[in-house]
Amino acid sequence: MAVIQQLPASVVNKIAAGEVIERPASVVKELMENALDAGATRLDVAVEQGGLELIRVVDDGCGIAADELPLAVTSHATSKLRSADDLFHVSTLGFRGEALASIAEVSRLMLRSRQSEQSAGAELEVVGGQLGPVSPCGCAVGTTIEVRQLFYNTPVRRRFLRSAQTEMGHVTEAFTRLALAHPRVHFTLRHNQRPLYELAPAEAGLARIAHFFGREVADELIWLESRDGEVRLSGFVGHPNQSRPNARMQYLFLNGRSIRDRSLAHALSEAYRGLLLTGRYPLAFLYLHMPPDLVDVNVHPTKLEVRFQDGGRIYSQLLGTLRTKFLTTDLTHRLSPAGADTAHDPSGAHDPARAEQMRGEL
Ligand SMILES: Nc1ncnc2c1ncn2[C@@H]1O[C@H](COP(=O)(O)OP(=O)(O)OP(=O)(O)O)[C@@H](O)[C@H]1O
Ligand SMILES: [Mg+2]
Repeated sequence: MAVIQQLPASVVNKIAAGEVIERPASVVKELMENALDAGATRLDVAVEQGGLELIRVVDDGCGIAADELPLAVTSHATSKLRSADDLFHVSTLGFRGEALASIAEVSRLMLRSRQSEQSAGAELEVVGGQLGPVSPCGCAVGTTIEVRQLFYNTPVRRRFLRSAQTEMGHVTEAFTRLALAHPRVHFTLRHNQRPLYELAPAEAGLARIAHFFGREVADELIWLESRDGEVRLSGFVGHPNQSRPNARMQYLFLNGRSIRDRSLAHALSEAYRGLLLTGRYPLAFLYLHMPPDLVDVNVHPTKLEVRFQDGGRIYSQLLGTLRTKFLTTDLTHRLSPAGADTAHDPSGAHDPARAEQMRGEL
């Protein structure tokens, strides 16, 4: 047996990076979450070659003080957590103090930031985990982070990446999830200088859903809302005739975070039992809001999975809300495009030609 040794920080950071940063989409998610935690009202994401060459996220959030820039890219350094106690009521998207250090370890990163009370900004370059000096720069209030040549120093990870087009698909999905979770924030996404999305702040989540998936999809969704104690559930589910062959259009958000939860996915399929053929999945855009101490978000490095204090009760709430909704909703009338009410439908959702035209307008 070889002797036991403490690993150098750079190795520790590379191991951590392996957990959190799997592909360009992971970088986009982490940078967007930081911007949202910073209170940004506008967030611009630009990507080149599916994120393999460049990922740039610009926000108008609170910014970082010049003397704290090196700390921002240091592992286990965070402004969002002070004590172990805080772990049990996390109200921000980030809390591990790991993301920027992980990204900086496996890329060429440029961090530029300015707080509103400062007359100028400051910038810091980090190449493969090596910090350069902090130098003054002119920039708007907020933060800009550029990540170039992701995994340039971890060739094995780089070889696992797919084509720019496939990686861009994952980037778009990460962007979509956060944009759906935060409809009041202005988001843009560009790929290779081409605008893909320009999402003005929306009062209601439905406008965002329409932007991503088309007005004809949004118009058929069924709205629901319920409250059980401090847990509020709201959102939209699909009409049975909108079902899909996979569960990719099932979105679940918890306190502004997109999560995956097998139990709640099961509640959803239970609610549709008898309404859908086997192998078909309903659409869902469900938003859960609850006090942070009712859920443990510290169970998964990318925070995709969480642990509810009382998962059984949330399962019942979702299933019960859907069942009640379906009992009081006429699910048959919309199945027939020639239904009597479609003539008055101004959205054109039941008129394929009009729907096609609207898709083109989106
Ligand atoms: N866009 C930003 N605007 C303002 N501050 C930021 C921004 N991005 C990062 N920071 C600061 O840098 C710190 C480190 O960010 P990092 O993403 O590494 O960790 P975190 O968000 O605290 O936790 P996690 O690892 O869970 O994401 C943050 O706690 C925050 O103070
Ligand atoms: Mg973070």
